[in-house]
Amino acid sequence: MKITNICCIGAGYVGGPTMAVIAAKCPHIKVTVVDLNEKRIADWNNPDINKIPIYEPGLNEIVEKSRGKNLFFSTEVDKAIDEAQLIFISVNTPTKTYGTGKGMAADLKHIELCARQIAKVSKTDKIIVEKSTLPVRTAEAIKSILDNTGNGVQFQILSNPEFLAEGTAVQDLLNPDRVLIGGETTPKGDEAIASLVEVYANWVPEERILKTNVWSSELSKLTANAFLAQRVSSINAISELCEKTEANVNEVAKAIGMDSRIGSKFLKASVGFGGSCFQKDILNLVYISKAFGLNEVADYWEQVIIMNDHQKRRFSKNIVQTLYNTVSGKKIAFLGWAFKKDTNDTRESAAIYVADDLINEQAKIALYDPKVERPQVLSDLNYLETRCSSQNEDSIQNFKNPYEACENSHAIAILTEWDEFKEYDWQKIYNIMLKPAFIFDGRNLLDAKKMNEIGFVYQSIGS
Ligand code: NAD
Ligand code: UGA
Repeated sequence: MKITNICCIGAGYVGGPTMAVIAAKCPHIKVTVVDLNEKRIADWNNPDINKIPIYEPGLNEIVEKSRGKNLFFSTEVDKAIDEAQLIFISVNTPTKTYGTGKGMAADLKHIELCARQIAKVSKTDKIIVEKSTLPVRTAEAIKSILDNTGNGVQFQILSNPEFLAEGTAVQDLLNPDRVLIGGETTPKGDEAIASLVEVYANWVPEERILKTNVWSSELSKLTANAFLAQRVSSINAISELCEKTEANVNEVAKAIGMDSRIGSKFLKASVGFGGSCFQKDILNLVYISKAFGLNEVADYWEQVIIMNDHQKRRFSKNIVQTLYNTVSGKKIAFLGWAFKKDTNDTRESAAIYVADDLINEQAKIALYDPKVERPQVLSDLNYLETRCSSQNEDSIQNFKNPYEACENSHAIAILTEWDEFKEYDWQKIYNIMLKPAFIFDGRNLLDAKKMNEIGFVYQSIGS
């Protein structure tokens, strides 16, 4: 089938940027991104391109290029489903917060709702593409819902997981390491795969488009995230050992990363990985393994999460211990709240957990983040349900200016690796802080020698 009309359900961090790139690279295809969230769609349609809901370098330009031409954002879900030949499902699949599998399994209620909606509305044959990250064998459930409508419409289900990382989404989409497409190993399945390959082939070299069966594709996505997160937990485990032995984790990471079998990426020790996916996807992998009775496999992967939780907790514990075992009433400046640089996404950011621990110790937090606004920060803290919202409001203050956040503070904690932090006038910051002036660098971002020369008591991860 030659694709000329695509619908994507879910206008989030994946649906928005991915469809913007497809629209830009395939001017002959009409792409409609739909969402139930009216505010989100209104934001995507905001005439001021700087106000679209997601901050990603290069995203504004690419959205502006096609919006209103062949890229549309809409709340008219049924209409877009009806018109499309190919439908991406790109809705959220968070960890379940209730019932069986609570805290581990992926919550597939949004996926099932999409499948039911597609089944109800469709009058013509369609290709359904799982873009969301899903437990292996989810396509089976989607197929069962779609095939039991009794209206004779034929559906092909493909798995096409997304590998973009936030902060580099546009670059990752324009130049992916690979595009993975899993489909049924039947002539109809092959035809559906070929249709999707043709879309990507508008800009991705065919040798980078990998075709597999559906289950391999679904499982590869969980596995890729588990391997990436495992590297971060591995280097973070070594960072604690470095702190006891006078080894320096940056030097160790460089030394091991130069081994081409290991490679240099994802070896940056940090306060712990965050983001909406690593933890959720590993928990999902653990849950699936347990469901198959593979307890050793489950325990192996769970350790990646245990290590990450430990890394976040020991960072806040170290701040308290270093500040003479009390932070009660002390002003701690936080530089960064996003889970990594170049995104306004804060989901599972380590900063949330460090703040929560310090607020428990009665610290006052003075926060500066270039892209995260106060309502998001409060919502992140309230979500933990550690204390009432008014206590959170009293314990954290947001600043538009980093120097004001740091003024009269007892310590600075660096939680996100925003490039601009490196450019600050650190002598000026030292001058306006209480002494001794402490920096706890959770991202190993600053130059230790320079910070020590200025007079800071500077602590980074793993040295
Ligand atoms: P998100 O929460 O930013 O966006 C999901 C959107 O889907 C929301 O706007 C929500 O309102 C909408 N939605 C939910 N149910 C709907 C329905 N029935 N009809 C219409 N809209 C509906 O999530 P995200 O970060 O874009 O992630 C989406 C999926 O992609 C997840 O499975 C995630 O694991 C995966 N993924 C995310 C990333 C990432 O970097 N964020 C990268 C790769 C894969
Ligand atoms: C990650 C994967 O990199 C993407 O391939 C995947 O598509 C995505 O998850 C997903 O499925 O959602 P993302 O979470 O956006 O992307 O960002 P990463 O760059 O992977 O960073 C995740 C976390 O690990 C961040 O908190 C980051 O600061 C931390 N990290 C990363 C480290 O602490 N050290 C490193 O060396 C690398």
